[in-house]
Amino acid sequence: MERKAGNMKDVKIEQRIDALLSRMTLEEKAGQLHQAGGSLVGAFDMTIGDIFTMVEDGRMTREEAHKLLSESKRDWQEEDLRAGRIGSYIGITSAEEMNRLQHIAVEESRLGIPVFNGFDVIHGFRTITPIPLAESCAWEPALWERTARMSAEEASSAGIHMTFSPMVDVSKDPRWGRIAESAGEEALLNGLYGEAKVKGYQTEDLTRHDALAACVKHFAAYGAAEGGRDYNRVDMSPQRLEEEYLPSYERAVKAGAWAVMPAFNDISGVPCSVNRKLLTDILRRRWGFEGMTISDANAIAECINHGIAADRQDAARQALNAGMDMDMTSGCFLENLKTLVENGAVSVETLDEAVRHVLRLKFALGLFDDPYRSSAAQERAAMLTPAHRALAREAAQKSMVLLKNEGVLPLEKHMCVGLAGKLAFDGDEMSGTWAGFVKPGDCVSLSDAMHGASIAFVPVTEDMLPECDVFLCAVGEHKEESGEAASRARLELNETDLALLRRLRESGRPVIAVVFAGRPLCLGPVVEAADAILMAWHPGVEAGNAILDLLYGRVNPSAKLTAGFPVTTGQCPTLYYDHIMTGRPAGKFKFTSKYLDSPVEPLFPFGFGLSYTSFHYSDISAVQTEDGIHAEISVDNAGDWAGDEIVQCYFRDPVARRVRPVRKLAAFSKITLQPGESRRLSFEIPFQMLGYYDQDMHFCVDDGQIEIFIGGNVWDTEKADVILTRGE
Ligand code: BGC
Repeated sequence: MERKAGNMKDVKIEQRIDALLSRMTLEEKAGQLHQAGGSLVGAFDMTIGDIFTMVEDGRMTREEAHKLLSESKRDWQEEDLRAGRIGSYIGITSAEEMNRLQHIAVEESRLGIPVFNGFDVIHGFRTITPIPLAESCAWEPALWERTARMSAEEASSAGIHMTFSPMVDVSKDPRWGRIAESAGEEALLNGLYGEAKVKGYQTEDLTRHDALAACVKHFAAYGAAEGGRDYNRVDMSPQRLEEEYLPSYERAVKAGAWAVMPAFNDISGVPCSVNRKLLTDILRRRWGFEGMTISDANAIAECINHGIAADRQDAARQALNAGMDMDMTSGCFLENLKTLVENGAVSVETLDEAVRHVLRLKFALGLFDDPYRSSAAQERAAMLTPAHRALAREAAQKSMVLLKNEGVLPLEKHMCVGLAGKLAFDGDEMSGTWAGFVKPGDCVSLSDAMHGASIAFVPVTEDMLPECDVFLCAVGEHKEESGEAASRARLELNETDLALLRRLRESGRPVIAVVFAGRPLCLGPVVEAADAILMAWHPGVEAGNAILDLLYGRVNPSAKLTAGFPVTTGQCPTLYYDHIMTGRPAGKFKFTSKYLDSPVEPLFPFGFGLSYTSFHYSDISAVQTEDGIHAEISVDNAGDWAGDEIVQCYFRDPVARRVRPVRKLAAFSKITLQPGESRRLSFEIPFQMLGYYDQDMHFCVDDGQIEIFIGGNVWDTEKADVILTRGE
């Protein structure tokens, strides 16, 4: 039988929920399903959205906006809270404030039901770690879990109970800005990443004061938005949805996540917010999910824009009936659920079921017995400690991918460095997207780190190239250029950075490019202009220190890409490694599936990343076992450095009932080898993993040939064949 999601029901708690439900009015029930955001109050008449717009169009600096947002008071609609019209808040980041509001809920509302508070703790709270896309390049679930634990410790002490994380949207299109928040283009990696994050946030015991409820998002297939344009449509075959997109959510849900957030997008014409098939048939019935669903921000009201709901009441009706439990900030549930029940458009059982899911979470968090989980003292103690900085540094070291090294790295400490590019001097840019609680000055820039390590450097100015041994040039994206609502139609590096790199190149001295970005970029011209390239992403608070650790060889680079890098933007969205074979695979002949003006393959493939040592693969073997395929390979460290290698195992089913991918990641292993050391590794691939859906949506595993590929990246593998004879 298929494994179901963790059992979240406890008989005694269900009885307490029954007792509460029997005392609640329809208004109070609707109130439990409403999540409120705080509006800004003060001597100005602006929304948070207005402030963002002013930053974008230059009317306000980022520093001014930060000051305004962090210092201005918020209106938390206390009268509504007292009246039982608020079930949850989004965005409280202070234990004191949270406890003050909790007192109102518990002591002054009629039924004394506590509220919970959610926040986007995406890659750290105050101690910002690398963006998820970067951290995924470590291929290390234990690290993902440890950084989630750290985030939870910090955020919980600031009055937060739920994080809107992990995001496990498979992202095959780097034009989509939210690829930064994902674990890249691979379903297995996104699933493992999500599972580790859920464990790290929640622990085994959600009543712990330092635990956070995890919210798996965005269910489903948000990463497949057409054209890579945010919030756009998703239209795909049911087979593809099942095989490539749903598995990552399923794994994270079955790891025990307490919440799931349906996505903004529609799938084949039905917005996820009102998608009964997704929210009820798949999530609840098939996977056995017993936690709560919460809409994305304002998403229920946006069903009117989608053209699927006539008005706010119609949107509320469709969402609740489809299986949405809580409304994030739109107010549609609060305004309309009472009327909808009275009209018979929504049954009281459906309403009660949604309230039950929300109350179940509040009980699981221990809020009924222990509503004031954090205190101001804890808040001050937990943030940005030396141990947290050390973990952020380790995560950054393990996330940065060495893309090119023509014998210039590692650097030696006595060399004089010419430091170029604005991003080398701007710590605040290092946090990347979704770092709402980071403070100016928290992040160590490249120049800060060089000062700290007493490395001699001279800044490169616009009109002068200084005397130096080597140039270190920071290029790439600002933090606002990736993340939500940051899709791009051009992934080429900006002209200023390119001109700078070329200027340095002309000097004839070695050039090392450090690329900051929230997504794969087209780095062809950088490959031409630089002797070495370190893909640093947006690395978080320890950015500069971790970069120097790698550039100076204190740490040997080990990260490998979890999304391919395009040659040109026109290759998107067909860039990904697990594409299928057409009837006319790209070749020399004209009439094949290719471009006239660009290769089909990426510039850097999935799984790629260099080290200061080299690994050699030999003696691959693969056999059928009772449960699947057992494969082995020998790996040895053929260089002079100790190093970590991420060994990847792929398969292909060359003759199937439906066209299958040219490669599919089945397993991986991260190992450390000393110079000269060799190890034999084995991988188990269960039959289930080889399976797929046929034309009639029957899941099948074929007998016959399966090809196994093992190596250091998707292009660089050894091959073995197995003939499956299961007789089914
Ligand atoms: C994003 C979500 C996020 C929510 C709350 C939305 O715009 O899509 O990922 O959790 O805002 O901040």
